[in-house]
Amino acid sequence: MDKKRKLGVAGAGALAVVVTLGIAATADAAAATLGAAAAEQGRYFGTAVAAYKLSDSVYSGILDREFNMVTPENEMKWDATEPTQGSFSYGSADQIVSHAQAHNQRVRGHALAWHSQQPGWAQNLSGTALRNAMVNHVTQVATHYKGKIYAWDVVNEAFADGGGGGRRDSNLQRTGNDWIEVAFRTARAADPGAKLCYNDYNTDGQNAKSNAVYAMVQDFKSRGVPIDCVGFQSHFNSASPVPSDYQANLQRFANLGVDVQITELDIEGSGTTQANNFATVTRACLAVTRCTGITVWGIRDSDSWRASGTPLLFDGNGSKKAAYTATLTALGGGNPTSTPPSTPPVSSSSQPPIPSGGCTATVSVNQWQGGFVATVRVTAGANGTNAWAVTMPLPSGATVTNSWSTTRSGNTWSNVSYNGRIAAGQYTEFGLQATGTAGTLSPTCAAS
Ligand code: XIL
Repeated sequence: MDKKRKLGVAGAGALAVVVTLGIAATADAAAATLGAAAAEQGRYFGTAVAAYKLSDSVYSGILDREFNMVTPENEMKWDATEPTQGSFSYGSADQIVSHAQAHNQRVRGHALAWHSQQPGWAQNLSGTALRNAMVNHVTQVATHYKGKIYAWDVVNEAFADGGGGGRRDSNLQRTGNDWIEVAFRTARAADPGAKLCYNDYNTDGQNAKSNAVYAMVQDFKSRGVPIDCVGFQSHFNSASPVPSDYQANLQRFANLGVDVQITELDIEGSGTTQANNFATVTRACLAVTRCTGITVWGIRDSDSWRASGTPLLFDGNGSKKAAYTATLTALGGGNPTSTPPSTPPVSSSSQPPIPSGGCTATVSVNQWQGGFVATVRVTAGANGTNAWAVTMPLPSGATVTNSWSTTRSGNTWSNVSYNGRIAAGQYTEFGLQATGTAGTLSPTCAAS
């Protein structure tokens, strides 16, 4: 029994090695990367990715070490995916999705309907022709990526800046005020497994613009228009600082019954001031139960769309900035080699006891005609976990098409490298998408 559980942790050899180093004795050793630390909080940590940079080994090295969610920076936009009407080009976006899937990262789709970065042919359309083109675009792109997208930014930046509290004028807006709900209903029909988000900027605090978005979400909820999440871009600088009511604003949207996500975070600046701002944003997300994750808009400062403001977590050489350390610390992570062991190092002949506080698993299911997404929450018991395995048989007829933050063997769903360690009382989540009917799922959890 004891031997089996040790093997479940890391393999007997690996365990002996870390024990010799004296750093594996604590079940709740701090996670060493953004993605792992976020996962320990039941969140993701993502970045915008440009397909043409994936061949840069410094870039992809940081990407695959630190992040477990990716957003294509430009590759899924209308001009990229439908450069000629009715003729779709998915090469660069597919490259990002394949890379993500190969590295256990999920994908936020960005963006299906937006006034900006439209192909020339769409810019020249109006009225029914544009409305039909938009509906076809949403259907085609969401169908192409069906089952592979965690959340879609269905509509981006549809509200006006300033005090008016109204919609932004655009060719899409001029097709009729219902264009947003039509886009959401169309996206739901094409990919019922993806969370559907409204995404915008200058909505990060309470103001006329965010009030208008709030009213729209409230209206959609009351009329059954499918919306699951609101994205807050969170592009900050001295002219547009982190609002003091940032957390309160996230919370009031969450209270409407939607998830909230920080979707394009960058904060111009440097040093301690910048680091403190990143920590503030990170803590705000963690304080809001329905804030499911944070995405920064690029990896190195030199990758940023506003590179001169050095607004990201890694410098141009790929080195971690103070902002990185502050963000990781706010997530509850840290460098384990710099943390003194909480118990004296032990020799391999007297190994530490295996935690026996166990774990529990609960599942929530989003079922639609023909398929479902199951999200499983693994909560650590009194001693935390080093590794876990959830047993959850699926009914016959259910076929898994996609899963994330887990590895599967038959009915057993185990942790991946970054989410095995859960501190006492904390949780992490993994998920799967399947065709068929979920019925009643009864997960059981074993910790080691
Ligand atoms: C930006 C990209 O980062 C740039 O590479 C591109 O030239 C313009 O678009 N809000 C959004 C993003 O929703 O899509 C934008 O991304 C930044 C502002």
